[in-house]
Amino acid sequence: MSVIAREPIFILETKNTHYVVGADPFGNAHRIYWGKKCPIDDYEMPDYGDAESNHGKLDEFFEEYTPFGKTMYRECAVKATFADGCREINLTYVGYETDGNKLSLIFKDVYYPLQITLHYTTYDDSDVIVRSVTLQNTGEGDITLEKVYSAEITLPGTDPYRIMNTYGIWGAEHTQTEALLDGGALVFESRYGRSGHNHSPYFVAHRGADEESGSVYFANLAWSGSFKVHVSRDIYGITRGLLGINDLDFEYVLESGEALTAPEVILGMAEGLGGASRMLNDFGVNHWLPKYFNDKPLPVLYNSWEATDFRVSTDAQSALAKKAAAAGCELFVMDDGWFGERKDDHAGLGDWFVNKEKFPNGLGELIANVNAEGMDFGLWFEPEMVNPDSDLYRAHPDWAYHYPHRKANEMRWQLVLNMTKPEVQEYIFERLDDMLSTYNIKYIKWDMNRPLSETGAENLKHPKMHWYLFTDALYKIVDRLRERHPDVQFESCSSGGGRCDWGALKHFDMVWTSDNTDSIDRITMQKGYALTRPVKTMRAWVTDVNWYNRNTPLAYRFNVAMRGALSLGGDLNKYTDEEIALCRQCTDLYKEIRPLVQFGDLYRLLDLDKDEISAEMYVAKDKSEAALFIATVTPHCIKKPVALYLNGLDDDKIYEFDFDSDHYEKSGAYLKNAGIRLETVQQYYHKIIRIREKK
Ligand code: GLA
Repeated sequence: MSVIAREPIFILETKNTHYVVGADPFGNAHRIYWGKKCPIDDYEMPDYGDAESNHGKLDEFFEEYTPFGKTMYRECAVKATFADGCREINLTYVGYETDGNKLSLIFKDVYYPLQITLHYTTYDDSDVIVRSVTLQNTGEGDITLEKVYSAEITLPGTDPYRIMNTYGIWGAEHTQTEALLDGGALVFESRYGRSGHNHSPYFVAHRGADEESGSVYFANLAWSGSFKVHVSRDIYGITRGLLGINDLDFEYVLESGEALTAPEVILGMAEGLGGASRMLNDFGVNHWLPKYFNDKPLPVLYNSWEATDFRVSTDAQSALAKKAAAAGCELFVMDDGWFGERKDDHAGLGDWFVNKEKFPNGLGELIANVNAEGMDFGLWFEPEMVNPDSDLYRAHPDWAYHYPHRKANEMRWQLVLNMTKPEVQEYIFERLDDMLSTYNIKYIKWDMNRPLSETGAENLKHPKMHWYLFTDALYKIVDRLRERHPDVQFESCSSGGGRCDWGALKHFDMVWTSDNTDSIDRITMQKGYALTRPVKTMRAWVTDVNWYNRNTPLAYRFNVAMRGALSLGGDLNKYTDEEIALCRQCTDLYKEIRPLVQFGDLYRLLDLDKDEISAEMYVAKDKSEAALFIATVTPHCIKKPVALYLNGLDDDKIYEFDFDSDHYEKSGAYLKNAGIRLETVQQYYHKIIRIREKK
């Protein structure tokens, strides 16, 4: 049983944990316990003492969703103004509903017609819990919501936690940050209208955990727009995290009868950082990613962007496609440049019609050539955008976000469409649907290359609601397209990794991790990405990029890209026959180990940033085999040989593999506890070792 109701106490039972909530006498949900399973009779409502005492006792409570008002002064989860101007919410518990693995706790204001329902879902095979909240106006008169976090999460105990997030930038997304939060608050947010490259809509909390040990708590917000993650430690030593849509300039007006369900939060507790990653990976694959491709291996794709940028044509792309097929690719994606007057990035966005000069007879011939090479075909779009130099903008200047007396910013020479307008939504849907219906397209790369600005939304009675409605419209359009074209894969891209959140992962099958394809930088970025997201959703290209004159060998670049959803993006026309043959060898190997990488368990063994060696192992669920990836930047022999401990294998199984000049036939226990000897003697040393159970 996954929800045990003992009103007023409710036990959410996950695979290994209990998350216990109760309706407290002050009308709020109270988090009673979160940790490993205990006998359920041990759980009881705490003694609250006198809430009216003279030292603001309510602030000490472990509320699951604190409203603004009463004598609660900490960061609140929800703030609203009622029709008569009252700005305080005062809740009382109404009741609960359960449905298998779902629990809803219902609260209502004691006077005003606001109902707040906290939703919880558990999963028998995981320690993940999904939370969300519905706010409903059950009466007359508008209720203006000014702040709506999706969840408030009180972490166990009073010692300070280390809080992890990212401090990335374009080209260095997913760079991890970690800080000891011993007092005050840490805020991670995006104000861009997309989840962005800087901070991420999650927090990970631990007290000195390493990869395989120590309790790790995590919470991810499933939202691709502006967000805020607020984690604080109060004067009583309590650490709380709130995650939700950013409240800056935010408003959501509930008219009579209307309801808003805020974005979901995926939270959980795991053993070690590696345990958290594996739990989220499995949860993503089994329960979260869009159905159809979630349990299917993602293809090795070729993307033309770095090879041809805007210079696309049937001949040029067909020539590349031939090479891509020879290199072992299964899908060929033509990137930017195929539509409108798109000679460069100054024009054409919005005109999603095939450019007649570049493709006089449409895309049919190119797609036929790609298909004849045995590959599927994919196409790039940037649907939320418009260039001022486009037919779409000339016909509908009012479709772009703007204020009448302000010049709209033209970052990358483009404007953002006001997606809250039904006619804009319809146009985008119709254009993509038409392209998908006309041509044999099996993959959409959906890009979004600038943040929102000058967000006038004169079409809305309450323009500040656009922050919610924009992202909601994005999801709805993608879902509609997916319904009509279920066998088409969708990739979320936003100037590289600007939209890699769990909201995107509910509607897109994968994301573009970063425009930076330098393999050494990628090792760090991929580690940050895979900490909280499924490995298979991480598109990783092998390219010719050489920003730092590092001249990493081609096989080294494969070593790194093969740790995610392998893709190729170099100018294959310039590759020698030997290089194409090497690509083929690598893609062939990848296809063999793909089930381990995309559906296995990731064990991070050595960290390039800390240990100067990157070693990661992907282990089959039945532990019958593993793929071990090793890569270094500088040689290590002048320092010392390193013991590499192979965590993640079955202690009792005997494994066999060759490594350098040694043949190993050892138990999983030995390989974990004694390790293997690693001497890395060359610059850019790299190895992929297949470890198999001895039969
Ligand atoms: C963004 C993407 C790139 C590429 C270009 C095309 O920068 O991140 O991968 O698609 O747009 O303009």
